[in-house]
Amino acid sequence: MTVKPTILQELPADLEREKLPRHVAVIMDGNGRWAQRQGQPRIMGHRRGADVLKELLRCCQDWGIQALTVYSFSTENWRRPMEEVNFLMTLFERFLRQQLRELVAEDVRIRFVGDLAALPLSLQAELERAMEATRQNKGIRFTMAQNYGGRQDILQAVRTIATQVQHGQIQPEDIDEAVFERHLYTAGVCDPDLLIRTSGEMRISNFLLWQVAYAEIYVTETLWPDFDRSEFHQALRAFQQRDRRFGMVKN
Ligand code: FPP
Repeated sequence: MTVKPTILQELPADLEREKLPRHVAVIMDGNGRWAQRQGQPRIMGHRRGADVLKELLRCCQDWGIQALTVYSFSTENWRRPMEEVNFLMTLFERFLRQQLRELVAEDVRIRFVGDLAALPLSLQAELERAMEATRQNKGIRFTMAQNYGGRQDILQAVRTIATQVQHGQIQPEDIDEAVFERHLYTAGVCDPDLLIRTSGEMRISNFLLWQVAYAEIYVTETLWPDFDRSEFHQALRAFQQRDRRFGMVKN
């Protein structure tokens, strides 16, 4: 089953280019429910979800979004049935193998964040290959959070900084937000301006806890496998109507 690209290739006229989020993060939820509603096994939802992700990446490129980060596998997802976890690992691997040439050609810079060392070795090899092959690319920054947990991200940064303090490389009073951020997995990419969650759940689910401090949150009832360009258009429209004050008072 493939996802048909919809007609909205150009930035829709009711969106202001200069008010687009620079970085969009997505919690792609609802694959299992989508499949079950179609009377199919859950894995079919993941398979379709991968096609939808590809289409969203292309849409972000078409419309001029600079960075896209998606939650593709959380540290908690290991608790799923073994067959589903295995299917997902194989799907990620296959996705990368099939997409890499296109990602390179389209100037996408891909990165994986999370505890990658715990992933199957063959998948780790694909992740490395994809990161290496796109390292010099200058287009959209595409990040997949793979075996990622926001708390774990913060903890690994704390551990690194604590070790530096122990070795006298940094003084505790020099640790500020900028220093801290440099040690998060996501270092080098600006914080998300917009966080989208599909399937109606009002949770952050341990995604980018530090990084979404000022993100606008958009939740849609639509299940991830049905999230298309017109849904993304709606999310961006809602974003552009928000009043972002970052704790300040409006003049
Ligand atoms: C949540 O749906 C989705 C996931 C845990 C995995 C995300 C994976 C994909 C979107 C597809 C794979 C992507 C690539 C790039 C190969 P769920 O299973 O929790 O849905 P449910 O809440 O309805 O059970």
